[in-house]
Amino acid sequence: MGRLVTGMIVLAALCTVVLACKAQDQEPEPQQIDERQAYMQRKLDDARHIVEGLSMEDFDKIVAAANDLIAISHESGWNTLTSEAYLQLSSEFRSSASRLRKMASEKNLDGATLAYFEVTMNCVRCHKFLREQK
Ligand code: HEC
Repeated sequence: MGRLVTGMIVLAALCTVVLACKAQDQEPEPQQIDERQAYMQRKLDDARHIVEGLSMEDFDKIVAAANDLIAISHESGWNTLTSEAYLQLSSEFRSSASRLRKMASEKNLDGATLAYFEVTMNCVRCHKFLREQK
């Protein structure tokens, strides 16, 4: 009899653990939010580094930031939306970021400044689109 009770207690404990794990599976939100915030922070850091690079004529800094923006735009978090309009905005962003990288690697300050404006326009355009979707 004592063994049966112990067995039931163990079973109950196991169920609690399994249920707790399941509940955790369904709500991985805190971590997702952390990841998302880190990823947003990265975009802002890149934008800041580009402005710094343009002001100081530090072309390497601009190239590195442009590379990072292009890399981010290929990550899964970026491509959560798959509508044609979003993919189009995404591809325009990538091409202006590539132009920025090219201009900076050619040490073309005016060209890089212009490309930076385009990148910024693409940031704004995509976010405006996202707000309109809601
Ligand atoms: C092709 C679309 C697209 C482009 C271009 C884009 N973003 Fe975003 N951005 C997103 C999406 C999607 C989110 C929302 C992500 C989420 O909520 O999971 C976002 C969110 C953000 C946020 C957080 C806003 C908030 O509500 O907390 C910041 C900051 C940000 N982006 C900065 C930038 C910057 C800076 C650029 C340009 C260098 C840029 N983004 C370009 C798609 C884009």
